[in-house]
Amino acid sequence: MAEATTVERTGVSEGASGTRFEPRIIGFLCWWCSYTGADLAGTSRIKYSPNVSVIRVMCSGRVDPSFVLKALSHGADGVLIAGCHPGDCHYISGNMKTAARIPLLKSMLKQFNIEDERVRMEWISASEGEKFARVVDEMTADIRKLGPLNWKANLARK
Ligand code: FES
Repeated sequence: MAEATTVERTGVSEGASGTRFEPRIIGFLCWWCSYTGADLAGTSRIKYSPNVSVIRVMCSGRVDPSFVLKALSHGADGVLIAGCHPGDCHYISGNMKTAARIPLLKSMLKQFNIEDERVRMEWISASEGEKFARVVDEMTADIRKLGPLNWKANLARK
């Protein structure tokens, strides 16, 4: 009988060296709302997983799907896109345009066997520091369960 993997036994995946896997998440945050929300989480001293590297964009509508693909193909294990709530986008509908692209992007990622949970879009306002922290914690936990993406290595094996 095959031995259970670490993920099956504990729900926690390990890196090649046997250490606990820490996901690398790229967060594209809209400057007007979500970046300010993240800033609020920091100034409010809300604790959250340190796994997200933030890239500030003027609007979530600026996040071209190619940015997500580039992040994943360059070593990210997940990508968070966060923008203003519907109706609050400072460029009128940039957030809704990006939201409309997400299903298409996810269906494309599925072709590469990349799980849905690795890309997440959220509405986070400037006053939602706690929500930002919760989303980062949830995403980190979800991706930790999935394990490292290693997209290039996985593609090379197929
Ligand atoms: Fe925030 Fe457009 S300005 S999503």
